[in-house]
Amino acid sequence: MTKNTFTLTNNQTGDTYEYNILEGTRGPSVLDIRTFFADTGMFTYDPGFTATAACESTITFIDGKKGELRYRGIAIEDLANKHTYLETCFLLLNSRFPSEKELYEFDLEIRHRAFLHEGLRHLFNAFPDNAHPMATLSAAVTALSTFYNDHIEMNKEEEYLEMAHRIISKMPTIAAFAYRHSLGIPFIQPDIDLGFTKNFLTMMRAYPGGKMHLCTNGHEHIKDVEVRALDTIFTLHSDHEQNASTTVVRGVASTGAHPYVAISSGIAALWGRAHGGANESVIAQLEYIGSVDKVEAFIERAKDPDDDFRLMGFGHRVYKNFDPRAKILKGLQDELREELGLDTELMAIARKIEEIALSDEYFVSRNLYPNIDFYTGIILTALQIPKSMFTPIFVIGRTVGWITQWIEFKKDETSKIARPRQLYMGE
Ligand code: ACO
Repeated sequence: MTKNTFTLTNNQTGDTYEYNILEGTRGPSVLDIRTFFADTGMFTYDPGFTATAACESTITFIDGKKGELRYRGIAIEDLANKHTYLETCFLLLNSRFPSEKELYEFDLEIRHRAFLHEGLRHLFNAFPDNAHPMATLSAAVTALSTFYNDHIEMNKEEEYLEMAHRIISKMPTIAAFAYRHSLGIPFIQPDIDLGFTKNFLTMMRAYPGGKMHLCTNGHEHIKDVEVRALDTIFTLHSDHEQNASTTVVRGVASTGAHPYVAISSGIAALWGRAHGGANESVIAQLEYIGSVDKVEAFIERAKDPDDDFRLMGFGHRVYKNFDPRAKILKGLQDELREELGLDTELMAIARKIEEIALSDEYFVSRNLYPNIDFYTGIILTALQIPKSMFTPIFVIGRTVGWITQWIEFKKDETSKIARPRQLYMGE
């Protein structure tokens, strides 16, 4: 009979050690090496955690080879095409879809919690003009923790949910305030008559009094198609299992710090170009390339090992196939091209990059496919969202994922402080 174990042999001593293989409900099996150091006196070495599972989770599943993504077992395609972002939030937090009544109540609660304490509003004045909204956002979320210190100790389900609903609801307000401060224009308060996504677009675009730009035909208005496009982008960003920023959130959670401080650290981690900051870099790169005839020269640079130029929006640690979120957004781009007036020149450059990269040996042999960030920029630009707000948009969508992972970590009785070891090579 086969045993569900794995035997390791130390060839220096001939000693053997047997470890249990843990079977997940989906995905690769996991070798349980928790006693490895105690057994052998050695550490394992895995910089960047390419082969290390750091937790047990029931939230999100990714099969990178197949290009599959599921939240609570539901395929991302179903969520993006048939459900709203708020339904997705409810699903992530409660492991099931809401009833009609529950969704109504959840929506109302999110609308009413969107306001910021007046004291917090003044914090934005402390930042210089042109402050990057990601920096302001991270600082303001840390500051938010000072208003809700009681969230540091929670035991009841209602307390966890109240804390989660509060941060999901306030994040768009903080992001919009960070943006408006960076331009020196007055803040627009949330409007309880508006749903989550429309409210955010209004706080970004409106003039004082809540009115939109006035033109010869009267006030412009936010189109339903714009709300749908942004809502889908939020859904696609809602969670992504143990990515870099979520790992930071769990790491901060492991020390017992306030949940909003953990989220603030996640925001800082997301900002980098190798992670969420890539969406801002993709559009900057497309604009820099400037025309379709220059694409080939840039592809050559991306392939040159002596040039640190990388194609932004290509490659992923987990996906070795098309990122399913990228596929959905590519479809949405095509569908909304006319309605949203997408920039056809930027789209043509992007299409050319995609076409060459998907057939070039360099990219094919390394399984480098476009990721979600390759497609968000063109849609966000059409929604009048400036580049500096692309990563804050990612933050708004991902907040629910971070906080759901934070709660899972807290409820896991086997969780420990995150404290890796090292291979010391110094004096
Ligand atoms: N352009 C050109 N070459 C690339 C790219 C790229 N975008 N991405 C990876 N490669 C090459 C590397 O040079 C390396 O080549 P080598 O084997 O000849 O040395 C090989 O592909 C493997 O790349 P790694 O950096 O080792 O892969 P890793 O899994 O560590 O990194 C990452 C993944 C950070 C996403 C990387 O692909 C990258 O920098 N991409 C561009 C930035 C980006 O789009 N980030 C967004 C990721 S999605 C997200 O966070 C939402």
